[in-house]
Amino acid sequence: MHITVAAIQTSPRFGEVTANVEAALAAVPPGCDLAVLPELFSTGYQFRSRDEVRALAEPVPDGPTTTRLLAFAAERGTHVVAGLCERAGERLFNSAVLARPDGRSAVYRKVHLFWDEKDLFDPGDLAFAVHEAAGTRIGMLVCFDWMFPEAARALALAGATVLCHPSNLVLPLGPDAMVTRSIENRVFSVTANRVGREHRARAELSFIGLSQIVAPSGQRLARLGSNEPGVAVARIDLDEAGAPITPRNDVWADRRPEMYGVGGARS
Ligand code: ACM
Repeated sequence: MHITVAAIQTSPRFGEVTANVEAALAAVPPGCDLAVLPELFSTGYQFRSRDEVRALAEPVPDGPTTTRLLAFAAERGTHVVAGLCERAGERLFNSAVLARPDGRSAVYRKVHLFWDEKDLFDPGDLAFAVHEAAGTRIGMLVCFDWMFPEAARALALAGATVLCHPSNLVLPLGPDAMVTRSIENRVFSVTANRVGREHRARAELSFIGLSQIVAPSGQRLARLGSNEPGVAVARIDLDEAGAPITPRNDVWADRRPEMYGVGGARS
């Protein structure tokens, strides 16, 4: 089965939520089955304080941004995965939301917080989970989760065929690492990054763009540049997910968990 997936590369203005949301949704191509938007796509990235996060954070699914994503999904028949700032009581999460055309949503809360995010957000408290979407099974990661192979592996072991990866990448190796995550897990990955700069706190951040769609073979099916917003689109053959590496090598059958001894602290 084939589906059409898109990575929407944006250039949000900090705090201009309605304009950022509408600009991102306007870029989603018609006929797309699954669209991935960047991390914190509605707010921008560089918050100065937890109070500032709280002021822009929204409940999921009842907040205005998730409500808008669900309306868009229903109108267009497109599944949307987007990064946003979530408020859950006193807790604040850097989350990704899945909005389905039938009105159901799901949320993932970023597990591996990057740099000053540790002062701003609570670490994600939901296990890596797989969700039915666009006729297949997707998993969500947010940006710096790329650095932890366990995250993508957990999703692939749980049956994900497509990793949806809303991002605000600043380190140059993230897109290359996601090629490896696709190869080693035999999954597609869709990384939606942003471009532009923010200098609201002590360090100026430059977001690297390079949004991409990667096949389980490691082939980049679509890739954007570093300077402009844009849309990467690919028609993907879901049967390629999980395909053997050679006639005698299957990544799942060949694993030797008893030899790895991973799971605990570093010695
Ligand atoms: C990042 O995790 N936004 C770099």
